[in-house]
This record gives sequence, structure tokens and C-alpha cells, in this order.
Amino acid sequence: MSQTQIEKTLIVVKPDATARGLVGEIISRFEKRGLKPLDIRMQTVSRAKAEQFYAVHKEKPFFGELVSFISSGPTVGVILEGRDAIATVRRMIGSTKSWEAAPGTIRGDYATGLTDNAIHASDSKESFEWESKTYFS
Ligand code: CMP
Repeated sequence: MSQTQIEKTLIVVKPDATARGLVGEIISRFEKRGLKPLDIRMQTVSRAKAEQFYAVHKEKPFFGELVSFISSGPTVGVILEGRDAIATVRRMIGSTKSWEAAPGTIRGDYATGLTDNAIHASDSKESFEWESKTYFS
């Protein structure tokens, strides 16, 4: 009997990846892995929404750059549901620093930088609750 549970998580395809035409490819990887899209929205987030979304980082030196980047162009947010979804998706996206991300992960295959690292994904149930509420507001 499996100990894993069915969970929800949020991914956000960042402006660098939408600009490069990677939305379909990225969502497709999750679907092929058995993660089911429950809700999807494309939007260019306002600075105010970006500041709320990334509030956990507001004291970090890179906060300004992060907010400017995420609000600089279209993003696509998807709520995914599946077995152990939060950890599974985090493994699939790879390390934050794209140059350290393993080949075969989304960042390892497509990302070019640190701020411009193609995709964001919730790292806990609490972040999922906050980020999904903010993104879809
Ligand atoms: P993400 O998973 O969206 O979560 C916060 C983001 O901050 C991270 O991906 C990076 O894109 C961005 N970032 C910019 N500079 C740094 C840094 N020095 N350390 C960690 N994250 C950073």
C-alpha cells in the first residue's frame, strides 16, 4: 500500500520560457508524468501581485530584480494534482540555479539563468495555499 498522497501544487511558467515558446512543452511534461492540470491562467502579473506572490523573499537582496522580472511579460500558472505532487514537481523542475540543474529536469534542459530560470513551483503546502490564492486572485 502506497504511503504517498494526492496533493495539489502550483507551477508558474516564467516570462523567459513563455517568450521562447516553451509553455506547451513544459505543461506536457507534467501531464505525461500523471500530474493533472486542474486550473490554468495566462497573465502578466502586476508589480503589486508579484510582490505579494514572492512576499517570503521580501528581505532578500534579489527581491527587486525578482519582482521586476516576473512582472515583465506573460506567465502561465497551472494548478497540478497528483501523487506526492509538491515533491515530484520540485524534482522535475531541478535546481534553482539553472547551471546546476541536472539534464532531464526542466531547468536543466531549458533555463538559462537564475532569475530567468524558466519555472517556479511551490515548495510546501503552505506556499501552495498562498501562491495559488495570490496568482489566481
Ligand atoms: P523561484 O523558484 O521562482 O523562487 C524564487 C526565485 O528567486 C528563484 O526561483 C530565482 O529565480 C530567484 N532568485 C534570484 N536570485 C536568487 C538567489 N541569489 N538565490 C535564490 N533565488 C534567486
